[in-house]
Amino acid sequence: MAAAMVTPPKIRQTNLFIGGKWQESRSGKRFATISPVTEKVIAEVAEGDASDVDAAVKAARAAFDSGPWSRADARDRGRMMNKLADLMEANLEELAALETLDNGKPIRDALAADLPLAIDCLRYYAGWADKLTGDTIPIRGNYFCYTRREPVGVAGQIIPWNFPILMAAWKWGPALAAGCTIVMKPAEQTPLTCLRMAELAQEAGIPDGVINVVTGYGATGAAIVKHPGVDKIAFTGHTDTAKKIMVDAAGTLKRLTFELGGKSPNIVFADADMDAAVAGAEFGLFFNQGQCCTAGSRLFVEQSIHDKFVEKVVARAKTRQTGDPFDPNTTHGPQVDADQFNKILGYIDKGKSEGATCLTGGRRVGDKGFFIEPTVFSNVRDEMAIAKDEIFGPVMSILPFKTVDEIIERANSTCYGLAAAVWTRDVQKAHRIAASVRAGTVWVNCYDVFDAAAPFGGFKMSGMGRELGEAGLANYTESKTVTMSLG
Ligand code: NAI
Ligand code: MG
Repeated sequence: MAAAMVTPPKIRQTNLFIGGKWQESRSGKRFATISPVTEKVIAEVAEGDASDVDAAVKAARAAFDSGPWSRADARDRGRMMNKLADLMEANLEELAALETLDNGKPIRDALAADLPLAIDCLRYYAGWADKLTGDTIPIRGNYFCYTRREPVGVAGQIIPWNFPILMAAWKWGPALAAGCTIVMKPAEQTPLTCLRMAELAQEAGIPDGVINVVTGYGATGAAIVKHPGVDKIAFTGHTDTAKKIMVDAAGTLKRLTFELGGKSPNIVFADADMDAAVAGAEFGLFFNQGQCCTAGSRLFVEQSIHDKFVEKVVARAKTRQTGDPFDPNTTHGPQVDADQFNKILGYIDKGKSEGATCLTGGRRVGDKGFFIEPTVFSNVRDEMAIAKDEIFGPVMSILPFKTVDEIIERANSTCYGLAAAVWTRDVQKAHRIAASVRAGTVWVNCYDVFDAAAPFGGFKMSGMGRELGEAGLANYTESKTVTMSLG
C-alpha cells in the first residue's frame, strides 16, 4: 500500500533570536532559503550582520557572566535540557518535515535518524550537567589542592546544512551541560529548523540569552569568530573554512574545535560477509545523498572479489528510490543547493575524463530540483580527483587492492582522517587495520554507527578535538586549580 505523502509544516520563525526575543536584523536585510526540490523560495530569513552578532554576544555574555545559566543548579540545567528533548519529541513530525522542506533529505531519514539521534544527544548531555567533577590532588607541602571544571564562557557555534537539527544538538548538548551560553549560526541553506529549536528551548524554560541564533551567510559566522566577547568557536564544515576561522580567531586566541571534511576509506576484504559489505558500502556512501563528512567515498575492494562485488553494489545502487523527499518511500532526495549540485556534476565529468568507468548514474534526474542519480565509478586510480577530493555527493569510487600492507598505506595517503571502515571475518586483520588507519573513527563490519556517548572527530585535516561523549564536554570547560594553605 502506498504511504501517504507528508505535508510541509507551517514556518513559524524567520527572524533572529537574540536575548529571548525574535527580531529583524538591524540592517533589515533578508536572504532566501530555497527548496532543493522546486528551486523556489521557501522563506526569506533575517540576515544578521556584525551589529546583530554583537547584540547576540552581549545577550549571551549577560546570561553567562551575571545571568541565570552559569549560576543555575546543574541539575536544573539538566532538567531544562531534558524538557527541550521532550518538546522535540512531541514535535518530531513537524521538525522532521521542516528539515525535509529546507534540506531535501528523505522524510523517512529525518524521522528515523536525524530527530531520534538529536533528541538522544540532548538527553545524554542533560545527564552530564550534574556530573562534571574535579579532582583532589596530593601536592607537596601542607596544602589542599583541587580542580574545578568551569564553563568556558560564550560559545560561538557555526554549523553546516547536511544535518541541521543533529548538528545543533551536538553543539548545544555539551555547551548547555557545561554551563556555557551560545551564539549559533546555522547554515544559510537550512536555517529553519534551528530557529524552531530555539523556540522550543524557550518553551522548555531555558532562560533568555542562553541560546541565541543569528542567521546569515559566512560573513555572519566570521563576525562571531572575530568577536572578543566569544570565548570558544565550535565549527563543522569545509576544511578551507576552518583555516579562515583559525586566522580570524588568532587575534583573540579563542579555543577552537573543528569537525571537517573527509575522504574515508571503506575497505572490503575477500573474507567479508559480502552482502553485509555491499549494503554497508551503499549506505556508507549514498546515505543523505552522499552529503556526509564520513562518506565512504574510497571503496577499496580486494582484487579476488572485485568484479562480483562491483556487480552487486551497482545493482544495489540502482534500487535507491529517487524522488520527492516528502514521499515516505523515497530513499534518495536532491542535493542541498545549486552550488553542491554543480560541484558534484563537475566531479562526475572529471571522473569520466580522467578515465574512470561510470557503471551507473552520472546524470541529473529530471529538469527541476537538485537531483543527481546514485553514481558508481570503477577503474578509479588513487591519483584521480574523484579519489582524492571530498565530493560530498552520491558518487562512489571503487578501487581494487591486493594486500593488507598495501591497503594501509593507500588508506592513509590522504590529508583527511575522519573515518574508515573495514569488512572482514578475520579478527587480526580487523584490529590491524583499526590500529593502523589514521582516522578518528573506525567501523568494523558496520558503517556510520553514531552514538552520543562515543567520541567523534578527525585526525589530520579532518578536525581538531572531539565531539560527543565525555570528550565533547571537555571542549566546553576550563580546568581551574585551587590551592589552599593548611597552615
Ligand atoms: P562551509 O564551510 O562554507 O559552511 C559551513 C558553515 O560555515 C555555514 O554555516 C557557513 O555559513 C559558515 N561559514 C562560511 N564561511 C565562513 C567564515 N569565513 N567564517 C565563519 N563561518 C563561515 O561549507 P559549504 O560552503 O556549505 O560547503 C562546501 C563544502 O564543504 C561541501 O561541498 C563539503 O565538501 C564541505 N562540507 C563539509 C561538512 C562536514 O560535515 N564536514 C558539512 C558541510 C560542507
Ligand atoms: Mg560556503
